[in-house]
Amino acid sequence: MAAIENSRGNWGSKFGFILAAAGSAIGLGNIWRFPYVAGENGGAAFVFIYILFVVLIGLPVMIAELSIGRKTEKNPVGAFKTLFPPSLWKLVGGLGVLTGIGILSFYGVIAGYTFGYFIKIITGGLSNVVTASQSEEIFKSFTADPFMSIGLLFFFVWLTVMVVMGGVSSGIERWSKILMPVLFVLLILLAVRSVTLEGSGAGLSFYLKPDFSKISFTTFARALGQALFSLSLGMGTMITYGSYIAKKDNLVTSAAFVAFFDTLIAILAGLVMFPALFAMGMDPAGGAGLVFVVLPSIFAKIPGGMIFGAGIFLLLSVAALTSTISLLEVPVAYFVDEHKWSRRKAVISMGIITFIIGIPSALSFGANSFLSTIIAENFGFLDMMNAVFGNYSLSIGAFFIAIFAGYKWGVKAVADELEKEGNVFFYKKAWAFLIRFICPLAIFFILSYIAWTGNYF
Ligand code: PHE
Repeated sequence: MAAIENSRGNWGSKFGFILAAAGSAIGLGNIWRFPYVAGENGGAAFVFIYILFVVLIGLPVMIAELSIGRKTEKNPVGAFKTLFPPSLWKLVGGLGVLTGIGILSFYGVIAGYTFGYFIKIITGGLSNVVTASQSEEIFKSFTADPFMSIGLLFFFVWLTVMVVMGGVSSGIERWSKILMPVLFVLLILLAVRSVTLEGSGAGLSFYLKPDFSKISFTTFARALGQALFSLSLGMGTMITYGSYIAKKDNLVTSAAFVAFFDTLIAILAGLVMFPALFAMGMDPAGGAGLVFVVLPSIFAKIPGGMIFGAGIFLLLSVAALTSTISLLEVPVAYFVDEHKWSRRKAVISMGIITFIIGIPSALSFGANSFLSTIIAENFGFLDMMNAVFGNYSLSIGAFFIAIFAGYKWGVKAVADELEKEGNVFFYKKAWAFLIRFICPLAIFFILSYIAWTGNYF
């Protein structure tokens, strides 16, 4: 993202933008969050609704965000302010800035753990794992150490700060062009091992055969949150990233490409997780520690599995880094553009704030019993932050972005932006319908239901 460094510029090429947007989208949301949320919400039926939401809500909102960003070439607050100066719309951008900090604060904890697991594996700390319960014990004692948890959070936020400040993220994106396909191949190999484990069949049917009697309204709310989280939508990440795209690029195909690969990786991650999980007799609703428990027990069943495991966790850390960069970029772009802060000042102060806010999340996997059970047994501070910022904030943001693009700024203005320089917006009618009716109504009903029942978590 050298472009970002010299204040405002463009991505080197269309491919550069797609890489960065895919780097933002593909991350822990796909491999850590998707499987455990699917496991807690009934498996295949959830997956079905999730895919529906990616197509009916995610894709249209992504197109809206990208076009707002490219039109205004601004951060989320500046973008709304540019289009409608004296209005309250800029608050939607403000919510996005807060949400970026909120998500990064707990995301950094999990990202820290993935890097910690990489170190743990190469230093032999997982070589005794044979059963799932051993793996679970190791994860528990790993996360119960407050210094380790806070230290890893600090490390990951620091790493993100360095990358965003140094403007070397274009380098990272280039690396990820090579590394992400490797991650993809490793996941496929893991999936093959997982489905060939004895007793994996029950997991496959849990994951792929929908049992619609398991659906409740909360399933819809979780699927919506997950779709937005995984696609980096609802907080202006794609407004910010869209502001660096050249006018000649076709936004619609880029958006479709990003959504497709993001979903593919999530589905694949589930295919790794569920067959193995059932084969080992674990509970699919085991919560946020799922990947850290399931993956090592698969490695134990592969010759040379720990080398494999080290590779997976290292690549997961890289995937997480390209997402944390995009999370930090939103508040940073805001302070640089709107308050004329230097990039350095913005990056460092946002980094410090995020780290401090992240500390209670880092202590909520057993290190501190109050924080670990703040909402319920097995629902700690990190889970709470995840729900508040990673589900509800994004859903509220996406609702207003849909209203803005569909009614306030308007379908015609979006289409004009998309059709710049001879591009064809081939899915215009369907997009207009989805963004005006389906997106706002679906989100409105889901959020109202949750508010009405008080069933927030
Ligand atoms: N989409 C990222 C992931 O799946 C997380 C993210 C959410 C990044 C919101 C930016 C904005 O890991």
